[in-house]
Amino acid sequence: MERLDKRLAATGLWSRKEAKELIRGGRVQVCGQVCRSCEEKVEADAPVTVDGVAIGAHAPVYLMLHKPAGVVSATEDGRDKTVLDLLPEPYPSLGLFPVGRLDKDTEGLLLLTNDGPLAHRLLSPRHHVDKIYYVQVDGTLDEGDVEAVSKGICLGDGYQCLPGKLELLNDKTTAYITIREGKYHQIKRMMASRGKPVTYLKRIKFGGVELDPELEKGSWRALTQGEISTLFRQ
Ligand code: URA
Repeated sequence: MERLDKRLAATGLWSRKEAKELIRGGRVQVCGQVCRSCEEKVEADAPVTVDGVAIGAHAPVYLMLHKPAGVVSATEDGRDKTVLDLLPEPYPSLGLFPVGRLDKDTEGLLLLTNDGPLAHRLLSPRHHVDKIYYVQVDGTLDEGDVEAVSKGICLGDGYQCLPGKLELLNDKTTAYITIREGKYHQIKRMMASRGKPVTYLKRIKFGGVELDPELEKGSWRALTQGEISTLFRQ
């Protein structure tokens, strides 16, 4: 058994003083219950979380971010703000990286983790993980577009996309589109090849995990155990 503040400080992520502030601020849970006492004695194997993120010597971290337009899906960039700049300490120092990329002007669900093997699996072209986007185009979408996406669009450079799914929404300028790969500017290029350039793009689902509708643009939260399990089942 050891004191909770000591246990947090032992991770090297916080000083003892910072650990005490986190605990008093109600951000620390032990076995799923908020604990505001720094002297609380915890078992060595008791699950401890800070802001919902599991804390342990080598506990991997899994977050979802509602990416706003204007930030880049990178860990560092000489010019633009990156998605890591949207996270408070200590998360930018935990070796997190985005699971795949969204364009600078694309919004929506971005997963961040430091679990390399899982990210690698989710991004592997052989794995065909479903990604669902809300898309708006300049033009009117029709059944021809639905059919073309379902057969697999051939892009301008000759690349043959895998079959996807386009679900038209009532106004016919917006739709949900599901793709199973992640080529550079893929949806923009698919729609451009139909003569209907993308004017807005937002990812709403990745590998069975949905963007939390409560999450404001630019905000993040830890994935739940259920969401992490969903990713591991992909
Ligand atoms: N397709 C695109 O064109 N852009 C994205 O950001 C994601 C998918």
